[in-house]
Amino acid sequence: MSKEFDVVVIGAGPGGYIAAIRAAQLGLKVACVEKWKNPAGKPALGGTCLNVGCIPSKALLASSESYEHAHHGLEDHGITVKDVKFDVSKMLARKDAIVGKMTQGIEYLFRKNKVTWVKGHGRFISREGDAIVRVEVQPDEGEPEILTTRNVIVATGSKARHLPNVPVDNVLVCDNEGALAFDSVPKKLTVIGAGVIGLELGSVWRRLGADVTVLEMAPAFLGACDAAVSKEAEKLFKKQGLKFEFGVKIGNVKVAPGKGGKGGSVTVQYQDANGKEHGVESDRLIVSIGRVPNTDGLGLESVGLSVDERGFIPVDDNCRSAVPSIWAIGDVVRGPMLAHKAEDEGVAVAERIVGQKPHIDYNCIPFVIYSNPEIAWVGKTEAQLKAEGRGYKAGQFPFMANGRALGMAAADGFVKVLADDRTDEILGVHIIGMGASDLIAEAVVAMEFKASSEDIARICHPHPSLSEVMREASLAVDKRALNM
Ligand code: FAD
Ligand code: NAI
Repeated sequence: MSKEFDVVVIGAGPGGYIAAIRAAQLGLKVACVEKWKNPAGKPALGGTCLNVGCIPSKALLASSESYEHAHHGLEDHGITVKDVKFDVSKMLARKDAIVGKMTQGIEYLFRKNKVTWVKGHGRFISREGDAIVRVEVQPDEGEPEILTTRNVIVATGSKARHLPNVPVDNVLVCDNEGALAFDSVPKKLTVIGAGVIGLELGSVWRRLGADVTVLEMAPAFLGACDAAVSKEAEKLFKKQGLKFEFGVKIGNVKVAPGKGGKGGSVTVQYQDANGKEHGVESDRLIVSIGRVPNTDGLGLESVGLSVDERGFIPVDDNCRSAVPSIWAIGDVVRGPMLAHKAEDEGVAVAERIVGQKPHIDYNCIPFVIYSNPEIAWVGKTEAQLKAEGRGYKAGQFPFMANGRALGMAAADGFVKVLADDRTDEILGVHIIGMGASDLIAEAVVAMEFKASSEDIARICHPHPSLSEVMREASLAVDKRALNM
């Protein structure tokens, strides 16, 4: 017997669970299909982000930062702390407890909003014209269930990209899942890929004592960032002890398993930028070379859909697929693979289904790297503006000239504001420094409202606060910074 819904969402990551809740708030009868199981074998909501992504990584980043701070960061304050120790198993237990709290929070929200959670693997089986779609859900055990609906939102997310011929066992060779669960600190750790995961998780294990080498294919560091930020970040990360090799070509990866599941080593052969061969041996390897959209066993062909050459489900600006009643959001479609982008698309699609006209400005989606210092940006980089031939002015202000930053021993980094040279509209804001993940929100609001750098420069900011650096950088656009 088939069950009927107004909307069936496949996937309960930040895209899917938010879409389901918003659709339910709008009065629709909603089912959300999710197959995830946590390490204890219990079904769990929240997707990559809550289970093995944003939330657990930030928990470990905070623990490792606290340790490093207590160990090395307090001398300047005149505080001596002796015998600072850490217990990896307690750090992991804390992280797991946070994940448990968050994922159970979504179960509560589903009950509150009357979203039906259908546990199991969802796949399309048929459609009747553009009006009726059938989705089959196969639980781990027992008979499949058929859901009939007028709208499907595909939110099946992404999975880690692996190197060809290098199987990930999440013991010695790890993707994000294993890298968030090392049971001890590796003496030596190799990371392939100096992207967001490589930097965040490489930093976690470096702070706890690992000797970390990062091998990166691209010739330069953090190509997506504004060049001034990448340059500063490279300098600071190297000072912290992360070792980088750019322009590498990865060759063989040899795994020597330990006895009884303990020990073992991994050797990565690579060619450096000059063509010279090297081998780096370590206790563990993290492969963080990007993620690929996840459409495994989704049965897209049953409803006349297919993926593009990169594996994404093609959608229009409103996340609508070629079949009008089927929508797709989050990591499984074009655009940045970020939780907040997935969430915003989820809300927008739910609202479109009931006939509203929401709009997402993809130029105003912020990016954050939760390193120390944090890196955050929104809008265009200087290189992009140059390539577009757009006239711009730039203002930059260092945290070193800000009293609050000095008081907090957080003087590294700066804020850089780029504005149109005729209209003064803010075109991009780039931050490296403590609190960048929160400071960037002001820039996002400003850009959403098409503010000028003069607007931020004229707005009263609290003193002393890190936010004054944003104001000073905006003043610096017209060479009027007051404290420099
Ligand atoms: P996902 O979160 O991947 O969820 C998809 C869900 O669909 C999964 O639960 C999966 O089990 C389910 N599913 C798939 N196929 C089926 C099927 N056929 N049937 C039933 N269920 C199915 N982003 C940020 O913005 N900030 C961060 O700090 C951040 N940190 C990250 C750290 C790490 C280590 C990683 C790996 C990612 C991080 N991300 C971060 C990216 C973020 O996790 C993703 O962008 C986000 O999770 C995408 O959401 P989604 O809903 O599209 O997909
Ligand atoms: P990434 O795309 O950020 O970085 C991958 C890096 O690997 C790139 O620098 C790339 O040049 C390099 N690379 C690719 N192939 C390689 C090869 N064969 N050899 C050596 N280097 C190679 O991907 P990452 O770090 O895996 O993260 C995946 C995604 O997850 C991110 O793009 C982001 O969307 C999301 N994420 C977001 C976070 C945040 O918002 N703070 C945190 C972590 C992940």
